Amino acid sequence: MNILILGGGGREHALAWNIKERGQGKHELFIAPGNPGTAQCGTNIDIAITDFEELGKFCIDNKIEMVIAGPEEPLVKGAWDYFQKDQLKHIHFIGPSQFGAQLEGSKAFAKAFMHRHDIPTAAYKEFSAEQFEEGVNYLKAHSLPIVLKADGLAGGKGVVICETHADAIMEFEAMLVQAKFGDASKTVVVEQFLDGIEMSVFILTDGKEYVLLPEAKDYKRIGETDTGLNTGGMGAVSPVPFASEEFMEKVTRKIIKPTVAGLENESINYTGFVFIGLIKVNNEPYVIEYNCRMGDPETEVVMPRLKNDLAELCLAAAQHTLSDIKIETDDRSAATVVAVSGGYPGNFEKGYAISFPLLRRVGGGYYFPGRYKRKRW
Ligand code: AMP
Ligand code: GLY
Repeated sequence: MNILILGGGGREHALAWNIKERGQGKHELFIAPGNPGTAQCGTNIDIAITDFEELGKFCIDNKIEMVIAGPEEPLVKGAWDYFQKDQLKHIHFIGPSQFGAQLEGSKAFAKAFMHRHDIPTAAYKEFSAEQFEEGVNYLKAHSLPIVLKADGLAGGKGVVICETHADAIMEFEAMLVQAKFGDASKTVVVEQFLDGIEMSVFILTDGKEYVLLPEAKDYKRIGETDTGLNTGGMGAVSPVPFASEEFMEKVTRKIIKPTVAGLENESINYTGFVFIGLIKVNNEPYVIEYNCRMGDPETEVVMPRLKNDLAELCLAAAQHTLSDIKIETDDRSAATVVAVSGGYPGNFEKGYAISFPLLRRVGGGYYFPGRYKRKRW
């Protein structure tokens, strides 16, 4: 198959790596815009992920049969919808419709969806600027800490956990009145704080059937020993030690199945990944968030453990044959660590090259080439 992956991060490298390795050369891969990692798996294409017109032209010119969206931005901006045009609709597009992508793009949409389908999540209430006074009174009576969430996409910074009522009111005002996150905080969700341990669950669905991919846990704090500011994720592991069979059975019954049934009942066009961010409280799972894509850095530990060819899985989703698929998982553990520019997640400079000697596989281990040749890694 000729496949185009959208994105240029570690996640897209992991997706491309799986397709190249597990597909054993069956697929021709293109990645827009890609990175030096993805260049080892296919051909990088210099087109922006939101330039739908150029992407569409590229797909026609290069006989692309499948597009896999890595990040949420093109999905929330309607990439799937664009690919429903006559001349593009023969291409299997892996990612939900713009409407379905609201599961990630709007916290209020996601909370209302969970509410409609009885999916366990933190209690909440949403407020717009016209309801500012009502919101302040609600906050004053709220138990501490209080979780405030900008409704829209805010680059991973839209969630603030406030330890005092004064902080919560200040933050609420900054979001709603001073538009701290622009349009993204025109609506604010106020949520009950859940105290527990988090993990990430991933499914690939056609909006009716689904397959469960290996689970993962990312570590969000910038500092050693889980301290400091939250980031997009400084590393991840898979499997997750506390995701026992019993717990995962609860996750399937109380969260995954009602989520997929909800998509089906509401006739939401959704062929793609659902990343469910969970928190385990007293051995019960609650949804913290939905994402309409795979996670980063989680994908970097999920893909090495997935023995199936991801392209075949995506094709099965597009052709509604997921129920014929058996997911095969490598029992071994995977871990990934993220290297970031100094200052992250505050102010930092972008554009540095990451140089890292390529690891060469020799016998049962990985070795650095050159002077590290004899050192097993
Ligand atoms: P989100 O963008 O919704 O995933 O939130 C980012 C992070 O904020 C999560 O990974 C959690 O660590 C934290 N968080 C979000 N909602 C809650 C909540 N209701 N209770 C406790 N922590 C939360
Ligand atoms: N690692 C969290 C995310 O991808 O949203």
